[in-house]
Amino acid sequence: MKNTEDLVIAIDGHSSGGKSTFAKALAKKMGLTYVDSGAMYRAVALYALENELIVDEKVKRQDLIERLDAITIEIRFNSEKNRHETWLNGRNIEDEIRGVEVSKWASTVSAIPEVRITMVDLQRKISKNKGVVMDGRDIGTVVFPSADIKIFLTAQAEVRAERRYKEMVENGLQASYHEVLDNIMLRDHQDSTREASPLKRAKDSIDLDNSAMSMDEQMKWFEELLEKRREE
Ligand code: DC
Repeated sequence: MKNTEDLVIAIDGHSSGGKSTFAKALAKKMGLTYVDSGAMYRAVALYALENELIVDEKVKRQDLIERLDAITIEIRFNSEKNRHETWLNGRNIEDEIRGVEVSKWASTVSAIPEVRITMVDLQRKISKNKGVVMDGRDIGTVVFPSADIKIFLTAQAEVRAERRYKEMVENGLQASYHEVLDNIMLRDHQDSTREASPLKRAKDSIDLDNSAMSMDEQMKWFEELLEKRREE
């Protein structure tokens, strides 16, 4: 097994399963860079919403594909807030991309193969020659098929909706619990049934159902996994 600082850890799973909280905590603990791949699809969705590329509840697919070159996405570290933030064409959009509307369209634009190719390219570029913890849907299957550790993380849909709802309320975002649950179930369906890189377990991934687990328990679970891997 590689040195800790060179490890590539892929975390895939359903929406709002706590992937990013887990991945961030893990990255911090291991001293690795955290990359939120979903934020990139969210940034594309926001761009489409702001540039009349979504009209009558439909994405203007061809126009969006032609505009991909005009979309610059960066992940910058904000030392004041001690977090990584997503920037779209030079603008900090980290808070804007977390609402229900952007979530919904992120799922739609992420099903477009050309969008995926561009984002996967960016994800690999960002992680070049360094250890990372990256979360998403296709990290262990497409982005880093030879990741050192692959985790498929999930929780029951109702538990995920409850967590997401609480998080939105805390962040002052408007939504009802049922709206959030419907959104999660819709995204589960879209993410798992789309033709381009659907969400699926990598053959060599390890399942983690965190429905009834605290973050400490999840970290402990990971420590044991890492220890086992080092012994192998
Ligand atoms: O992880 P998230 O909820 O922020 O992701 C937003 C959307 O992007 C989600 O509907 C699925 C999609 N996505 C994807 O297709 N592939 C990834 N690697 C990450 C996210």
